[in-house]
Amino acid sequence: MTTHHKIIFGNCMSMNEIDDQTVHLMVTSPPYFNAPFDYQGLYSSYDNYLNVLQSFAKEAYRVLQNGRISVLNIDDMLVDGRKYPIVADATKIFMEAGFNYRDRITWKKPDGYLRISRRSGVLLQNPYPMYFYPDNLLENIIIFQKGKFDYKSKSKEERELSKIDKVEFQEKKWYSTLWEMVNVLPNSSNNLEKGIAAFPDELPYRIIKLFSYKGETVLDPFLGSGTTIKVARLLERNSIGIEMLENLEETIKEKIGFGKTISLFNTEDTLEVIKRSS
Ligand SMILES: C[S@@+](CC[C@H](N)C(=O)[O-])C[C@H]1O[C@@H](n2cnc3c(N)ncnc32)[C@H](O)[C@@H]1O
Repeated sequence: MTTHHKIIFGNCMSMNEIDDQTVHLMVTSPPYFNAPFDYQGLYSSYDNYLNVLQSFAKEAYRVLQNGRISVLNIDDMLVDGRKYPIVADATKIFMEAGFNYRDRITWKKPDGYLRISRRSGVLLQNPYPMYFYPDNLLENIIIFQKGKFDYKSKSKEERELSKIDKVEFQEKKWYSTLWEMVNVLPNSSNNLEKGIAAFPDELPYRIIKLFSYKGETVLDPFLGSGTTIKVARLLERNSIGIEMLENLEETIKEKIGFGKTISLFNTEDTLEVIKRSS
């Protein structure tokens, strides 16, 4: 199946290029407030951050078709010793935008993949009460729905074409609220995700398979390195990505198979790049 992909370089607080109700699934990972390493000082205040989420949630609701799903990979964030309740706030913001809160999956990373593993070691140096600072091995995947899906809107053929592999579903335990997936180490090598807080392919892979049909359109408004477009393309879905940083263009193109390296994707697929700045 030939698919079409679009990258918009700009701020996803507005999604003017996307018409109402033209997206079938959103899967994305917004910045985690002013996360140490990745987004230090990006937002002037937590309120400013929540305003960004509010505008983005409103736009996500507008562009999504009735009955469809929006998924956020997000987590509470510890900044300067203070923990910000991002999951609770984002859930509230999405509900206020009109979405129904449908599910929360906990993503567990493998032991040994921590980024701040010395945090919990404080207690070993000071084995006394009040020195407990646990390392975070978890992230959240929160799932929202816009109204009710009309199961009869898909023909038998369309349903069969996007059938979910029951063996994969069972063996990888997709059925539970605990998903064990290996995370991308941000600075491990010279990979395309270097310096970008990318999620692993496995995350959009599961979400796209579970909540969209082949030939439909998947949106990621915080595109980063382009993981969602890459997986959408592999799974024969169209896609739209929005990313603020224009300097990620080459990285994204390379990752999604429209770069210099010869790719194994369907060569008939098309890519459109829109730059609001030009
Ligand atoms: C957590 S990363 C997403 C990583 C992506 N899931 C991947 O696998 O590569 C968030 C991305 O959102 C971008 N971003 C932050 N604020 C934005 C905004 N208001 N509009 C569009 N992009 C934004 C950042 O530049 C960053 O690349």
